[in-house]
Amino acid sequence: MRVFIHGLMLLCLALNISYVQADPIKIKFAHVVAESTPKGMGANLFKKLVEERLAGKVVVEVYPNSQLYGDEKEMEALLLGDVQMLAPSLAKFGKYTDKIQLFDLPFLFDDLAAVDRFQASAKGQELLHSVEKKGYYGLAFWHNGMKQFSANKALRVPADAKGLKFRIQQSKVLEAQFKALGASPEKLAFSEVYNALATGIVDGAENPWANIYSKKFHEVQKFFSETNHGVLDYMVVTNTAFWKKLPDDIRAELEKILAEVTVEVNKAAFAQEMADRQLVIDSGKTQVLQLTPEELQQWRTTMMPVWKQFEDSIGKDLIEAALAANK
Ligand code: LMR
Repeated sequence: MRVFIHGLMLLCLALNISYVQADPIKIKFAHVVAESTPKGMGANLFKKLVEERLAGKVVVEVYPNSQLYGDEKEMEALLLGDVQMLAPSLAKFGKYTDKIQLFDLPFLFDDLAAVDRFQASAKGQELLHSVEKKGYYGLAFWHNGMKQFSANKALRVPADAKGLKFRIQQSKVLEAQFKALGASPEKLAFSEVYNALATGIVDGAENPWANIYSKKFHEVQKFFSETNHGVLDYMVVTNTAFWKKLPDDIRAELEKILAEVTVEVNKAAFAQEMADRQLVIDSGKTQVLQLTPEELQQWRTTMMPVWKQFEDSIGKDLIEAALAANK
C-alpha cells in the first residue's frame, strides 16, 4: 500500500498535478440589517444553498447588523476586495449613478408589486447594470418594503413635519423630499438610527415595517403614519473583477442560487410587510395612524415638486416606465 501511495505521489509530481486540495473560495457577505428581515434571511439562505451545492468549493460568511462594515465603509471595502457581496439599499447608489435615484422619488410606485414589475422590465434591468463602470456588478434586486414616516408627534399632514429633523439615508432625493416638507434632513448610517431617535438627535425617520420592527424603532417613536410614500429596496452587488475571475461553472451555480434566493426574499418581503406592521401595532408601544385619502393627497402634493428637480438627471423616460408599472 505504501509503495502504491508513494508511486501515486511521484506520478502526480511528474504530471505536475497538485494533490493538495485547493482552498475554497471565500465570499464575505456583509449587510446592515437584522437577520429576521427579508435581506437578512436572503443572505443566510444564500450561504446555506451555496454550502450545500458547492461544498468544499465555496464558503460564505454572513455579517449582519453592520458587524463588519456599516453604510460608510462597505462600498469601498467591496472595491478593495475586503468583502465580496453586499446588498445596500438603492438609495445608497445615488453617488455612483444618477438614474438609480429614480427609486427614491416620493409616491412613484403604488406598492411593492409595482416595484417588482418595474424591476423585471428591460428598463429596470438596465439599472441593475448601471454601476458596472464603477467596478460594481449588480446581481439582483431584493425587496424590503414601502416606507412609513415616524416621529414623536402625530404626522397627519405635511405641515406637521415642518421644522422637525429627520434621519435620512445617503440620498439627494430624500434630502430634497424632506426639504419640500420644510423639515431638516440628517444623513446618518443605519446603525445609528435607533440611538438618534432614542436620544432626540433627530425627531423622526422613514422606514419600512421590517426595519422598524426588527430594530425596535417603534419603541422610540410615539407615532407612525401609514404613508407608503416610497420604496426601500436593495441591489445585491459584488466586485466586477472578483465575479468575472470566478471559474465559469462556479459563477454559473452561484448565479443560479442567487436567482432562487431572490424569489424567496421577494416572496418573504410581501408577507413580512404586513406581518411586521401588525407586530408593531400589537406591541402597544406606539400608535399607527391611518391617513385619509385627503391627507395622503396633501403629502403627495407637497412632495411632488421633487420629481421636477431630478427629472433631468434621472430621465423622463425612466420615470414614465416606472409609472407604467403601477397598472
Ligand atoms: C437604511 O439605511 O435605512 C436602510 O438602507 C437599511 C437597510 O439596509 O435596509
